[in-house]
This record gives sequence, C-alpha cells and structure tokens, in this order.
Amino acid sequence: MSKTMTAAMLLAALSFNPLFGQKKTIDQKVDSLLQKMTIEEKVGQLNQYSGRELTGPASDKKTDIASDIKNGWVGSMLNVKGVKDTREVQEMAMQSRLKIPLLFGLDVIHGYSTIFPIPLAEAASWDLEVIAQSAHVAATEAAAAGIHWTFAPMVDVARDARWGRVMEGAGEDPFLGSMIAKARVIGFQGKQLGGTDAIMACAKHFAAYGAAIAGRDYNAVDMSEVTLWQDYLPPFKAAADAGVATFMNSFNTLNGVPATGNSYLQRTILKGKWNYTGFVVSDWNSIGEMTRWGYAENAADAASKAINAGSDMDMEARVYRRNLVELVKQGKVKQNIVDDAVRRVLRKKFELGLFDDPYKFSDAAREQKVFGTDFNPVARDVAKKSIVLLKNERNTLPLQNSYNKIALIGPLVKAKRDLAGSWSLTPDSAKMISLYQGFENVYKATQLSYTKGGEILSATDEDIQQAVELAKQSDIVIMALGETWDMTGESKSRADIHVPGKQEALFNAVKATGKPVVVVLMAGRPMIFNDIADKADAIVYAWWLGTEAGNAIVDVLTGKYNPAGKLPVTFPHDNGQMPLYYAYLNTGRPYVGQKSKQYLSAYIDAPNTPRYAFGYGLSYTTFKYSDMKLDRTEMTAKDSIVVTCTVANTGKYTGEEVVQLYLRDEFASVVRPVKELKGFSKIKLEPGQQTTVRFVISNELLKFYNSQLQYISEPGSFKLMIGSASDDIRLDGTFKLK
Ligand code: GLC
Repeated sequence: MSKTMTAAMLLAALSFNPLFGQKKTIDQKVDSLLQKMTIEEKVGQLNQYSGRELTGPASDKKTDIASDIKNGWVGSMLNVKGVKDTREVQEMAMQSRLKIPLLFGLDVIHGYSTIFPIPLAEAASWDLEVIAQSAHVAATEAAAAGIHWTFAPMVDVARDARWGRVMEGAGEDPFLGSMIAKARVIGFQGKQLGGTDAIMACAKHFAAYGAAIAGRDYNAVDMSEVTLWQDYLPPFKAAADAGVATFMNSFNTLNGVPATGNSYLQRTILKGKWNYTGFVVSDWNSIGEMTRWGYAENAADAASKAINAGSDMDMEARVYRRNLVELVKQGKVKQNIVDDAVRRVLRKKFELGLFDDPYKFSDAAREQKVFGTDFNPVARDVAKKSIVLLKNERNTLPLQNSYNKIALIGPLVKAKRDLAGSWSLTPDSAKMISLYQGFENVYKATQLSYTKGGEILSATDEDIQQAVELAKQSDIVIMALGETWDMTGESKSRADIHVPGKQEALFNAVKATGKPVVVVLMAGRPMIFNDIADKADAIVYAWWLGTEAGNAIVDVLTGKYNPAGKLPVTFPHDNGQMPLYYAYLNTGRPYVGQKSKQYLSAYIDAPNTPRYAFGYGLSYTTFKYSDMKLDRTEMTAKDSIVVTCTVANTGKYTGEEVVQLYLRDEFASVVRPVKELKGFSKIKLEPGQQTTVRFVISNELLKFYNSQLQYISEPGSFKLMIGSASDDIRLDGTFKLK
C-alpha cells in the first residue's frame, strides 16, 4: 500500500469486505441477504400491491395490506405517492424482521405534476433530446414525491388506431420506436440509478401487445416469429440495451400462450439471448388472468407457470402470496427459480440506495423545492415541437395580425382535463392552459369570441346554429375538435375512429359560412375526419399536449414557433383500412393507381393509400432536397456507404425539417417491405440557408430476420430514398450489397 495514501483513502479501504479486502459488491450483498431470508420473506419480495387508499381510513383490505407489509410479505407498492404517504408506508416495512425496503411504483407515463404531451405526441417531435428531457423532468418530480419506479416507457409498436393504447407509445415503426425507447429510458434513469432525479424505468408491455387482434384491447395476438422479431421486439431490445431496470409483461397471449406465462419471451429471449439482469413485473393481475384464458387450471397452477416462465413479481394477482411458498415446499417450483427472481428485485433496491436509506426519496424538503420549480417552459417547448401541421392552404397560418374578430368554436376550446390525456394520474386541471387561455395570453379580449358548439357527443341543432351565427360575425374561425381524455387509452378501443359525435357536422356548418376555418384536432390517437381534411383551410394535430397545451398551440398558430412535427403513425381514410402502415409488402398485384382495380390488391370502396402518411408534417417554410451523393454504389458486409444530400430552406420562415432515410431490399429470401425507415436527421435552417445531411449505411441497417430467424443481410440490390415523409420521397438511388 503506497505510503502516500491519505487518511480518507485509508478509511475507505477499511470499509472493504474483510474477506478479500474488496468493497462488497451489490451481488455479494444480495447473496448474503438472501441467505438470511425465509421462503416466506423471499416470496414477499415478489408480491406487489396497489395501495391507492392504503393510508386512508382502515378497511379490511387495507389492514391486510398493512399487516402483510409489516410481516415482510410485500416487496413493492404501486399507487402510493407523495413524501408523507410513501414515508408512512415505508415505516411499516421497517417493522419487518429484515427491514427490506419497499419499491414504490407509479404510472408516470408523460409527467408527474407537470404534464407533458402524451408519448405518441412526443414521438411526433422526432426530437430525441426533448423526449429525454421530458422523461427527466417527470423523473425529477416523481422521485421528489417518493416514487422509485415508473411503469414507462411503453414501447409497443402499434399499427391499428382502433387500439386505444396507441397513445402511450411511439407509433408504428420499430426503428423510430427503438430510438425513442432508448431516449426515454435514459431520461427516466439518467446515467445510472441512485440519483434523486432518477427512477427505475420499465419497458412494457412485453410483448406484441400492440398487435391485439382487431385492435381490441386485451385480445389475443397471433403472428409469425419473423414478424415478432422484425417489427415488435426491436424497441424492447433497445430498452434493454439502454439498461432499462425492469420489464413489464402483457395481458395478451402470443400465439396461444399468455405473455405472463410465456417462457419463450421471458426466459429464452429476454433473460437468455438478451442476458437481461433486471426483473419482470407482471401486468395488473395478468398472472391471475391465465385461468380465464384457459391456460392455468387454477391460481396455484398460474403461479407455477408464471414464475417458471420468468415473471418475477406479481402485480395485484396475489397468487404468489397465496401459493408460491406451498409450491416450493411441495417441490413443484424449484427454490433456485424463486431465488433468481428475488435476487433481481433486491439488486435494484441496492442500486437505488434504499438499503442505505429507505427514506432517501421521501424527503419533504426536496419535495417542496422540486414542486416549487417551474418546469412549464420545458413542457411548452416539448408541446410545440409535438404539433403536426397537416394542412395550410393559402397560407392561412400563421395567423395575420390584422384579424380583429377571431371566433373560437368547439367543445375543446376551453378543455383543460382533456389536455392531460388518460394516463395522467393526478392532473391539476387548474394548472392546464386551455386553448382559450392560450389565445387570451396573446390577443385582446375584444378580438376573441367563443361558443362551444355543443358537447362532443350531444351537440344540438341550436348549438350548431349558435356557432354559425358567431362565425358569420368573425374574420376567421379557430375550431378545437376531437376526443375527450377518456376516449383513448387503456380499454378504450374504438371500432370507429371518426372524430366523434356531430363535430364534423358542426365544422361543415361553420365552414359553409365561407369564413376561413383553422381546425385544431386534439386526440390520443389518429382519427378519421375526411370532411375537415377536404375543406378546412388549415389543420394542426395537437394530440393531448399537457399542461402548456394552449400556449404551445398558439405559439404555432401565430408563427411564434414554426411547426416541425411528423406523424409517427399512419392516418387512414377509412376504418376498414386498418391495420394500416407505411412499411407494407408490395404484394404480387400491387395497386398503384391503375384505371381499374380489377384483380389487384385494393378495396373497391376505399383507397389503399392513407389520408396522412407516416413521417408526414408540413412547415410554414419549404425545403428543397438536392445533390444526393453516395461515396460508392457497391459495398460488402464489412463496408458502409456514406450518403449525403443538400437541404435548403427555400421559404421565408426559419424552420426545422426531419430528413428521413428509407431503404428497400429489393429481393430477399423473405419478402421485405416497400420501404423501411433506417435513419433520420432533424435540422434547423434560416431562410435561404442550406446544409449537408449525411447518413452512413452500414451492413447492420440491411439485416433482417430470415425464415430461420437468423439476423442477416443478403447480397443484392437496395433502393435508398430520402424524403420529407414516407410518401414524399425527394431523392432516390440504388446500391448493391456484394
Ligand atoms: C395497467 C396497464 C399497465 C400499468 C399497470 C399499473 O392495467 O396495463 O400499463 O402500468 O396496469 O397501473
């Protein structure tokens, strides 16, 4: 030992494990704790209860939960939040024999107190930095409220807008979804767990939940393994590679086996091929539901199937709590299976620092400081970048200053709760900035007039007539239409995704006055609105943008911010087209607009093309793409091709553009899509400015899963396409893989 070692270093050295003179690693701490635990205490760590009212007036269920916590039968609670309540419940856990701290989990999906745009809206920003920033603010607030763990990001690829949970993810594309999954995990968890502005993230719902048959929530999923690996697993792998602390499985079956009892998913893929060391929590009672699926004979059978398949923690089914000890004692479940699950859970508790200080996240002073911090500017920035400009005829937008009479019409003009969407657990509606308030913050009251035009689902002829009269007296009409917060989200599948109620009738009547009409659409999913799309002068898709929605939308409508959002999901003309997505297979009889559709792959009563395509979004300025160059037109698997092109701002507004790179493998042993997103670059240009955009095409980008599930590239010709949307390709070329 060097003589110059300081006293502090010496002190640190002495804290090492006497056995080896080495600092005890977390795994060593986990193992030594595990050896002290009874089977009951081990099973306790795999048991999670919801404690929504735990700290409220006692009732049987609550006293059962409290006594279970005190007796070491609980490893985690969800839906307990706030420093006071989490501290109170953690104190119960400190009465248990081994004083193992609880994990507090919560659905912090897009913000805790400061509400950010729903995840699908954020995905429309294609801005990984702001997406990570949004997650970091959410983590900071949640961690200050005693939360250790969020059940996010939801990374399910979704290609059917009838499925209400499309709002929670990053849309239809595995490449974009993978990039966003990584950004969200890093945003929530920071560089590593342990900080008080970082919480455990949870990649969910593993797996393929977004492909529920007919878009009906909780339904079966049936797909080839090639499709599973090619299209639905990549965002989960990206989350795992980003170090996501936990996974959550899903309610659906995959090819006949419930995900929560699916060892192919949880052991062969996740803990095997991907060597995942975090833990898997079931979805709410998903283990218990295996009996209803007809997969488990009874609760004990469900417990056995789930733990053996790799479901480490049981959320609210209570089947581990009631059956696992007996199953181990009977030898029906091996002790080492339980030990592995317990190790995974304990490891996270050590990583969070909870054994050093169980109350580390329940700090009243920090709670006060953080909730005294104004994160609204961040929320406003993310919100405005999530808005997609769908239409802008005759430069209706940005609004001219000359308008003296602006009529604000529609059921969502003054909406506040709806702006928070269906996954905001404690939205403070008073804090939400409505569209009307956004206008009040910019325009004089004398310039504004308002009428609701009836409720979303019950507008009367009088309501509509009142709106028409108001429109007639105005220079321009701004309409806010769409869905209420509870029309999209979990268990909110819709067979018809038209803009609900009589809102298009309201629009048509107002538009018939001849006044210019700008439509702001607010929803959690793509909607169908063909009359509006055909007749409105301008349309912005404003999703559900959270706390700063009103200010962000007005920033865009007034041109304070030039919109740059691009759709992360396809919008159909007709319900019957779904599932509809851009990366489709060509078929042997492609319909590409021929005069007759006879004997072609087409609908006789609807178009094949979408209303708005993946990657689509307008700007107040225009961009010119030119001068595409490849440094070579042939590559081997060891090489790569550098592609550059020039993009110029040819309009009069500064603007951002998401330059998208698509590839098509023209011939392969498994038919490949007509195009797949393989790169994107978000650039910002002043009027007249231009820049060079550069992509590197590596062999990795050319790989796909063949029929033997080998992830390989195959020699042949490839088409490359660079554009402003999946259906707006500006430059294209070909190259060969030798
Ligand atoms: C729900 C959802 C899941 C959520 C969990 C806890 O049913 O499926 O996404 O995290 O239960 O609220």
